[in-house]
Amino acid sequence: MSAPSGRVTVVEVGPRDGLQNEPGVVPVEAKVAFVEALADAGLTVVEATAFVSPKAIPQLADGDEVFRRILKRPGVRYPVLVPNERGMDRAEAAGVREIAVFTAASETFNLRNVNASIEESFARFAPVIARAKKGGMRVRGYVSCAFGCPYEGAVRPEAVAEVSARLAAAGCDEVSLGDTIGVGVPTQVPDVVGRAVEAGVPVERLALHLHDTRGTALANVAEGLRAGVRIFDASAGGLGGCPYAPGASGNVATEDLLYLLHGMGWETGVSLPGVVAASRALASVTGRRPVSRVVAAFEGSAGRRA
Ligand code: HMG
Ligand code: MG
Repeated sequence: MSAPSGRVTVVEVGPRDGLQNEPGVVPVEAKVAFVEALADAGLTVVEATAFVSPKAIPQLADGDEVFRRILKRPGVRYPVLVPNERGMDRAEAAGVREIAVFTAASETFNLRNVNASIEESFARFAPVIARAKKGGMRVRGYVSCAFGCPYEGAVRPEAVAEVSARLAAAGCDEVSLGDTIGVGVPTQVPDVVGRAVEAGVPVERLALHLHDTRGTALANVAEGLRAGVRIFDASAGGLGGCPYAPGASGNVATEDLLYLLHGMGWETGVSLPGVVAASRALASVTGRRPVSRVVAAFEGSAGRRA
């Protein structure tokens, strides 16, 4: 069988999903340097921060300043998480060109995360998406708990498909299916992806956002590729989690995802050593080692095979 070939887009979410879950607040300068190092490594989408309530996520309360200070590379997108019109005011003021709205396929999770039912969250971001479109912004939509919920357990793929289709119909250019607590297994992937496609979201507009809590993320990526997905979210050094999802740990590490993709013959345009350097620089600030097998292997072999 010949190796697959083609382009895969890696959406780097470490500066948002990763840093929202750090025990301490990373200084603004280090956040800016992290985003810039990731873009320098060749990532073309770097989720920069979140304009959510600072009471909900104090770690990203400085998002406005971080976003303004990033030296933006031409050709790189810097989406920002926006939960409501207040967040949109901040996004417009900061000159954001792409936003990400977020809801869930689980009512209980959504209530804990954004203090709203799924229905209420759609009502909340309808005016946000309208403003984004009017301003020529691109919009991403997240569906949390697409593979399981920390409160409700199993989540029906039909429910994931329905929310995904609603997001696309509401104006989201891309829909990212989140395994928020990393419970998914490969056999779920074709079902979850296939039903979202059947519900009307073209596969080229679907992304997978896989947390690696139980070590299944890369296996799920491989299944995602077989199902036609070409956009994967990841966080440098495996940072991340959601404070409203007990037990959630980081996203699949960008380094591990790149190793898999490049080894399988997919092109990403991203330099693996460049991402390792970004993770290491951040780790020198947080004092926490990157949770990436590839970074560990890179260190063990002094970088020879990265
Ligand atoms: P609420 O308390 O229901 O709303 O929160 P509120 O409108 O009453 O606001 C409460 C306070 O926050 C007020 O301040 C507002 O002004 C302020 P006070 O009057 O009490 O001083 N506020 C804001 N401040 C700045 N920016 C804003 C903003 N909005 C309100 N945008 C709300 C509702 C949605 C705001 C809140 O629950 C919230 O911000 N939640 C975000 C939680 C979050 O960020 N979770 C993590 C991201 S999602 C995730 O990680 C999953 C994902 O990675 C995919 C996956 O893995 O599945 C995307
Ligand atoms: Mg996440």
